[in-house]
Amino acid sequence: MKNIINVTQPYLPPLEEFVPYLERIWESKWLTNGGPCHQELEEKLAEYLGVEHLALFANGTIALVTALQALQITGEVITTPYSFVATAHSLLWNGIKPVFVDIDPATCNLDPEKIEAAITPHTTAILPVHVYGNPCDVEKIQKIADRYGLRVIYDAAHAFGVHYKGESVLKHGDLSVLSFHATKVFNTFEGGAIVCPDETTKKRIDGLKNFGFADEITVVAPGINGKMNEIQAAFGLLQLKHIKNVIDRRREIDAQYREQLSSISGITYPPLPANTICNYSYFPILIGPEYPLSRDALNDRLRQQGVYARRYFYPLISEFPMYRGLPSAAAFNLPQARKTADRVLCLPIYPSLLNEQVDNVAHLVARPHGANG
Ligand SMILES: Cc1ncc(COP(=O)(O)O)c(C=O)c1O
Repeated sequence: MKNIINVTQPYLPPLEEFVPYLERIWESKWLTNGGPCHQELEEKLAEYLGVEHLALFANGTIALVTALQALQITGEVITTPYSFVATAHSLLWNGIKPVFVDIDPATCNLDPEKIEAAITPHTTAILPVHVYGNPCDVEKIQKIADRYGLRVIYDAAHAFGVHYKGESVLKHGDLSVLSFHATKVFNTFEGGAIVCPDETTKKRIDGLKNFGFADEITVVAPGINGKMNEIQAAFGLLQLKHIKNVIDRRREIDAQYREQLSSISGITYPPLPANTICNYSYFPILIGPEYPLSRDALNDRLRQQGVYARRYFYPLISEFPMYRGLPSAAAFNLPQARKTADRVLCLPIYPSLLNEQVDNVAHLVARPHGANG
């Protein structure tokens, strides 16, 4: 049987490096509820990411749901159909109506030129996604939000460590939400965080992730259990020690794909964004009509050869049953998102992927029918 190459493989530091962290937890018997590893990870991550404050969470989805609660968002929220389904689910969990707006095909992010037309008297916020870790047009989005008095919450699940114009992209908007899921550049098995601009907001969010407790005997809000436990936090501390190497290796793989796929008729990929320090979390390619196979046929062909690429993001969120009845989910409203979803394929990229394996994947894309193809 062939060795399988998946679209990603979680980064795991050497096991023996994790054992001392576990010993500390066993000694302290402090397993969760803001233990020492949790507190240390909050501080170290804020420093690494270049943000003022952040609140750790059990996963990114609970963090998104809580971010919307923290800002008391209601009514309608403008968002993108081109994302992982958790983005829109976080709205439904808060009883909010998603309003889908099309993407800019050049970046795969929400198209700011189309936002204003979707604003109604019920609109309270914008929930954009930095898709593949590529920054949204944060300046234009903020201008629109200011003009209409809207809040902005960024789904920054893909944007760990990304800097734009000299500062963390996570500083934009009212709040940014990270995911540390196993598949992400930085993982704590499951995990997430809300980046907060000030101490007061962080305190409110810390309360909301802990059932709404303000102190030992006072509950001030119907909070949830969103706490990150000590094992997750300890693993995060260890991951952070390796993050530079992880991102450096991803950068090399990204460069190798860019070089090897640069002159294949019908294959394009988004350029590296300007003024940005990237994290190279995904390597999406777009399969155009000049390519000899359809996107799905190429995907099948790669699978036959043991390469499990993924169609991120297909189908669009707006096509799932709980969304497709919304007026904004109509196909004519989202032509660019649909076109991109039908053409995209994310190729394997992860630190332990070898140069020969990248060569092999690029070669299969270049010659889908074999040596004579
Ligand atoms: C864009 C986006 N938003 C939200 C999430 C949800 O994060 P989590 O899996 O940590 O709940 C993910 C991925 O998992 C994602 O890719």
